[in-house]
Amino acid sequence: MSKIKKCLFPAAGYGTRFLPATKAIPKEMLPVLTKPLLQYGVEEAIEAGLNTMAIVTGRGKRAIEDHFDISYELEHQIKGSSKEEYLTQIRKVIQSCTFSYTRQIEMKGLGHAILTGETLIGEESFAVILADDLCDNEKAGVLSQMVALYEKYKCSIVAVEEVPMQETNKYGVIAGEFIEDNLLKVNDMVEKPNPKDAPSNLAIIGRYILTPDIFDILRETKPGKAGEIQITDALLEQAKKGNVLAYKFEGKRFDCGSVDGFVEATNYFYAKSK
Ligand code: G1P
Repeated sequence: MSKIKKCLFPAAGYGTRFLPATKAIPKEMLPVLTKPLLQYGVEEAIEAGLNTMAIVTGRGKRAIEDHFDISYELEHQIKGSSKEEYLTQIRKVIQSCTFSYTRQIEMKGLGHAILTGETLIGEESFAVILADDLCDNEKAGVLSQMVALYEKYKCSIVAVEEVPMQETNKYGVIAGEFIEDNLLKVNDMVEKPNPKDAPSNLAIIGRYILTPDIFDILRETKPGKAGEIQITDALLEQAKKGNVLAYKFEGKRFDCGSVDGFVEATNYFYAKSK
């Protein structure tokens, strides 16, 4: 299996927790300081050596395509002025990779969104970033750390972190055995279990590396928690064959799908920018 080059971004969700802000703006475009959440994710993928961004969008998400494109009018307007520097970073992003898009017509869960992206991925291993889990690390980014592990183990990998036991019902939760410091072989995983049923407090956060057989498994996966097709259930099938690792990553992660996490991320990046 060759190197990971593609990163899938499920970005079709409604962002109801951020209404009314997300009425006309995709939640992935909400900015932490001056940069949209999705751009942080794309930059993390580029830093990990990936060059093909595959974005699963939905209705009302056209601002995403416009963001990762040149705005001729804007470029013309600020050319030669001191404001040009504000566009330097996004220009670099656009030059470093390609973007392709497909639309998820019905919202049937994260597993379904990932399966919708198959047409953009094909028969190769790929990364998945959920942009509302915003990650930061002083050294290698979280996806970089996972790509290095993939090169060694060539199997699916999920990023995990310890959460308070009473919060297991917000996450996919894994159980496994340590095979290295910070790396477990997964033998069980459950989507959003009640704390009393949770196999551990190791929660999956929005970074995955998936081998392409996941698509065939997803096609067979029945709706699970909340009546949705869950990536956690599909991964459990791979895990039963010993093909899933869980990685306790280095770095910080902010749940920007919640107002509290979003404010925390904003304060963190603001302090860091000073
Ligand atoms: C999704 C996954 C869940 C994972 C979480 C990470 O849930 O289904 O397993 O722990 O992302 O953010 P969501 O947050 O979309 O409800």
